[in-house]
Amino acid sequence: MNSINLAKWITADIEPNNDSCRMFQRTIKFEKQVKKAVLNITALGLYEAFVNGKRVGKDYRFLPGWTHYNRRVQYQSFDVTKNIIEEYADISVYVARGWFSGHIAGDPDKLHFALACSLDVVYADETKDSFISCASDEWKAAKTSIIFSDIYDGETYDARLRPYDFKPVRLAQGYNPNDIVLQQGEYVKEHEQLSVVKLIITPKNERVLDFGQNITGYVRFKVKAKKGERFILSHAEVLDNEGNFYIENLRGAKQKIEYISNGGKSEYSPHFSFQGFRYVRLDEWQENVNISDFKAIVVHSDMKRTGYFESSDKMLNKLYENTIWGQKGNFLDIPTDCPQRDERLGWTGDAQVFCKAASYNYDVKKFFSKWLTDLSLCQAMNGAVPSVIPVKYSFVNVSSAWGDAATIVPYQMYLTYNDISILDNQYESMASWVEYIKNSSDNPYLWDTGYQYGDWLALDVPFGTYRGKTNQYLVATIYYANSVDIMKKTAVLLKKKKKVIKYYQDLYDNIKMAFNETYWKDEKLITDTQTSYVLALHFNMLNEERQKKAIANLVERIHDFGDKISTGFLGTPYILHVLAEYGYADLAYKLLLEKEYPSWMYPITKGATTIWEHWDNIKPDGTFWSKDMNSFNHYAYGSVVDFMYEKVAGIRIDESKPGFSNIILKPVVVKGCGLNYAKASLITKKGTIISKWEMSKDSITYTFVVPKNTTATICLKETYNVGPGEYTYTENI
Ligand code: BGC
Repeated sequence: MNSINLAKWITADIEPNNDSCRMFQRTIKFEKQVKKAVLNITALGLYEAFVNGKRVGKDYRFLPGWTHYNRRVQYQSFDVTKNIIEEYADISVYVARGWFSGHIAGDPDKLHFALACSLDVVYADETKDSFISCASDEWKAAKTSIIFSDIYDGETYDARLRPYDFKPVRLAQGYNPNDIVLQQGEYVKEHEQLSVVKLIITPKNERVLDFGQNITGYVRFKVKAKKGERFILSHAEVLDNEGNFYIENLRGAKQKIEYISNGGKSEYSPHFSFQGFRYVRLDEWQENVNISDFKAIVVHSDMKRTGYFESSDKMLNKLYENTIWGQKGNFLDIPTDCPQRDERLGWTGDAQVFCKAASYNYDVKKFFSKWLTDLSLCQAMNGAVPSVIPVKYSFVNVSSAWGDAATIVPYQMYLTYNDISILDNQYESMASWVEYIKNSSDNPYLWDTGYQYGDWLALDVPFGTYRGKTNQYLVATIYYANSVDIMKKTAVLLKKKKKVIKYYQDLYDNIKMAFNETYWKDEKLITDTQTSYVLALHFNMLNEERQKKAIANLVERIHDFGDKISTGFLGTPYILHVLAEYGYADLAYKLLLEKEYPSWMYPITKGATTIWEHWDNIKPDGTFWSKDMNSFNHYAYGSVVDFMYEKVAGIRIDESKPGFSNIILKPVVVKGCGLNYAKASLITKKGTIISKWEMSKDSITYTFVVPKNTTATICLKETYNVGPGEYTYTENI
């Protein structure tokens, strides 16, 4: 046990609706010489800590991170020996509402923030001491220069104020039980710093800075001003059709930063709030704007980049880059749907469809392990998985393909990283999700009850409808089968008893049978949509004869739609894979490289620098989709990058030897597909895999690099089983 587990949660008396930040402070005078000092610290809220005026963990932002606070909160441990001077420590900790009780928590007045910490000291004579947070007179809480702080709404900072109005702290009631656990996830850090590309004067005569890239983070700016002079910045992702600043799609999130000068020169960036933006409007600023005074700071979890892709098609490369930005923008401690409007939540469906692509782009094992722990803690007793993790809304929304994150994400982590411990840790959670589904309907082999998000945002319904046409229970039953299939494989991997494995095998077979009996009628699926066929084929729900009909139907549905996609969140990740697997690689490339609406490239023709929530956030006539749901940074459709790695460049996981211990190298190259070159590389634990091909008039040259201690199965016209090394093959076309 760490000494922080003995610490008390302390808070301050704060009026309702007061969103200011407080500073908790205590001074310790040690009686002996200190040899080592470690600060263990956490907050229900967000904190920034100082010992003797020096910031502790200064590279880390948004501590202690976002977990299912009802059950657990992470603490961080920092060696602060160097901060201690003359046997004296002034501990000052700024705490704001953050994710715990800010507007994002939905009910900000329920609980205020609280702090818990312990300072462990080893003296020169080897004796030890621990100083814990408690409601003694030694601890005080003061008002601070951060007079307003909220994740969604921004920050107001009055630099004229120093901590003032010191009052006694009190014990925080009703905050326990909380497990205080050591940091499990990746730390959130600052990354790139972007300069202003141009200063725009809009038709409404507003001054707007363009950073050239839609990002998540904040602006750091320099000011030289008179005391009391005010600076106000608003943040937006896009300009409207007329070129004016557009914030309606932010809904309730204000994304506003206010800074009041203390006189003289200073540099400032918000402490406990982040914004999703490319454009910044200077609502209040001095006459002269010096663009070099502003930097946009990119902030995200500190994941290591592992994947790279390039091709002969500039727009495809741009699509790839936009997906990388989508991941950076939405991997801020938890996987979020979007980083800008009044949502920014860990939507499970979004995370599930993107987790494979994410695991190729970056090393996300640690990131997802933490989130999955919270997922299991958020599960109801009956196994239901809430649609956002950490859970925010009351427990009403449980849906297939969203809740299935419980099985899909851990299994993907196992496949990409060959780490069975994630499956072991999540096993109970995965199994109880499957039981929840099984108990949801009268027929244990179908999931045909309750609200389902379905093929969210598909285009096969009248404009403005959220749920696509594909039958929601057809979708639910396919995902049910898939989760059971994952359970079966997991049970085998974890060497569970034979009867457990048989249980899942039988359940799977029965679901498949019930699916075919219920949803296949007159040579078709009951909803004759692109997504119905994509899901049934991708998740292997049909026998060979029906597969043939299904692929033919799918191709027809694509032709009906003018050779374009009409899929939503669920069909989109797999449509290209299915086409390529079933002999229609040419059509897959056509869809991938299509520039007209609807397509992946269309947003780029409208200036997109991230992935949009809808295919038509900006419609061809330049107007916007409804302001209610129009995020310009939603990674879900960015799942297409796994097609780039796996099919275009051809680096695939061998499920029987995961973690790229054996690599399947199988590029899908089609003469006249529009590409004549593609290359991907993946940094794995064992080294870097490279796959590259180049097409000339009558031949294709493939180059593969297989890292040490791995093998590869190279699938071209012939199959080659090889060990580590570099291989080149030329084939005539
Ligand atoms: C989110 C989505 C999410 C959906 C549920 C939206 O508000 O932004 O990405 O998956 O709700 O269908």
